[in-house]
Amino acid sequence: MRSRNGSVENRRPAVYPGSFDPVTNGHLDIIVRAARCFPRLIVAVVDNPNKRPMFSLDRRVELLREVCSAVANVEVARFEGLLVDFVRGVGAQVIVKGLRIVSDFEHEYSMAVLNRKLRGNPDTIFVPASIEYAYVSSSSVKEVFSLGGDISDFVPPVVLRAMNATRPAKAKQKIKERKLS
Ligand code: PNS
Repeated sequence: MRSRNGSVENRRPAVYPGSFDPVTNGHLDIIVRAARCFPRLIVAVVDNPNKRPMFSLDRRVELLREVCSAVANVEVARFEGLLVDFVRGVGAQVIVKGLRIVSDFEHEYSMAVLNRKLRGNPDTIFVPASIEYAYVSSSSVKEVFSLGGDISDFVPPVVLRAMNATRPAKAKQKIKERKLS
C-alpha cells in the first residue's frame, strides 16, 4: 500500500530460510520469484553446528550475496536457533519455502504447522519449483560434483568456481583424465 507521499508503507519482509550449502539455481529461481511478491525478502542462512557443511557459514552468505546482488529487495542474513525467533526478530510474518516434488510437501507441511505453534504464528507460503529445477537440491549437486559429474546447469558460475576451488589438484587431474578416455 502506498501512503500519500508515495512511500511504500508496508515494508514487512518475508523470510526464505535454508542451509544453502551451496545455493543452487533452484534456490535462485525461488528467490527471484518470491522477491516479486514481497517488498523485502530476507534470505536467512542457518548456522547449524550439528552439520558439517561443504562451505562455512560466512562463505555461504558471501556466495548468496553475490548471486542475489542483482535483485534489489533481497537481503542475506544468518541465524542460529529457532527460525521463528529470527522471523519475529526481523518483524516478518511470512516464511517462504520452495516445493519441488510431492515428497517435499510432507516434511514442509509439518514444519509449517510446527512453526505456527511455536511462536509468533508465522505463515508459510510455498513457491513451486520451476520444472527445470524440480530435481535439483544442494545434496544431489554435491554428490554429482564429488563423483566428477557436470553440475554447471545446476549452480551459478560463482558457486561452481567456489566448489572447484575446494577440490584438490589430484582429484581435478583424475576427472580430466576420465573425461578424455
Ligand atoms: O535448506 P534446509 O537445510 O532444508 O533448511 C532447513 C531449515 C533451515 C529451514 C530448518 O532446518 C530450520 O528452520 N532450522 C532452524 C531450527 C528450527 O527452527 N527448527 C524447528 C523448525 S521445524
